[in-house]
Amino acid sequence: MSNNKGFASDNHSGVHPDILKAIVSANVDYTIAYGDDEYTERAVKKFKEHFGDNIDVYFVYNGTAANILGLKTVTHSFNSIICAETAHLNVHECCGPEKFTGCKLITILASNGKLTVDQIEPYVVGFGDPHVAQPKVISITQPTELGTVYTLKEIKELSDFAHKNGMLIHMDGARLYNAAASLNVGMKEITGDAGVDILSFGGTKNGMMFGEAVIFFNKKVSKDFVYIRKQGMQLASKMRFISAQFEAFLSNDLWLKNARYANKMTQLLHKELKDVPQIKITQKVEANAIFAIIPKKYIIPLQKEYFFHVFNERTSEVRWMCSFDTTKEDIMNFTEIIRKTIAEK
Ligand SMILES: Cc1ncc(COP(=O)(O)O)c(C=O)c1O
Repeated sequence: MSNNKGFASDNHSGVHPDILKAIVSANVDYTIAYGDDEYTERAVKKFKEHFGDNIDVYFVYNGTAANILGLKTVTHSFNSIICAETAHLNVHECCGPEKFTGCKLITILASNGKLTVDQIEPYVVGFGDPHVAQPKVISITQPTELGTVYTLKEIKELSDFAHKNGMLIHMDGARLYNAAASLNVGMKEITGDAGVDILSFGGTKNGMMFGEAVIFFNKKVSKDFVYIRKQGMQLASKMRFISAQFEAFLSNDLWLKNARYANKMTQLLHKELKDVPQIKITQKVEANAIFAIIPKKYIIPLQKEYFFHVFNERTSEVRWMCSFDTTKEDIMNFTEIIRKTIAEK
């Protein structure tokens, strides 16, 4: 495999220099452990600047934990959680949500990754019936695992429906910033203001080394999180190194600049490839991912140059993803190689 950066995932990217600087700056003196420190206090303040004063926010190491512990805090094992069939919760968390929450995951086929009220309605039944899993949470991902973005109106429709039925909205916002940049809105507008109750907020995919947050907009449901986080083995003793990263991430628009840039590079890649007849783009390109069906014979030669994942082997659908550190040159080289490979084979 080559040393090129590749387009497999924003998880493959490095750490933004401002974040590294923040980690180094936090590496002085002793400070109180487990989040009772000044770095965490300042990071929480930053979160409140972006998401409003009326939140509870807690830090964890990774996105899987943010999802699972957030959901565990608001459910009993007799509940059901409704999500898209493509949700990270469903396909990439090794049935951790089922194990830790005990809940039934009701998965809905959503061809563009987005759920609608019409799709969910048939599953929101059986309230009060002891024979039936009690519907409790609708979990949506923003942007979705298919690179599409819920509009504000779409989120509000889902949250109104959830609340009307005594349910909660969880948002997996591992890449929330890419959605906010795409919609050109603030992060609060498409989360708390749109009726989201619990948000998993990512950092790692946009320039942080590690660290994710769980934000409760609905403070009535957050009270047990601290115990569940500890039981869930996600209470970092040297919390300051997550907090210092978040403080930098949420300062000087770093989160936004990085996300806008990744989206822009994705649009460039899309522009270069959308008219290639051998490539069929399968989803709207709204954030930092492109899904495309390409002839199988091109996949291995291309992966050797710029690694990427096959999303669906059966249909030969691949995913290309850009990051804050993808360069224009990466894109031009990659698209040139694609054209050459097609011409030769
Ligand atoms: C949409 C989404 N949610 C959650 C996660 C989980 O993140 P982690 O791998 O840090 O557990 C990912 C990771 O790629 C993701 O893409």
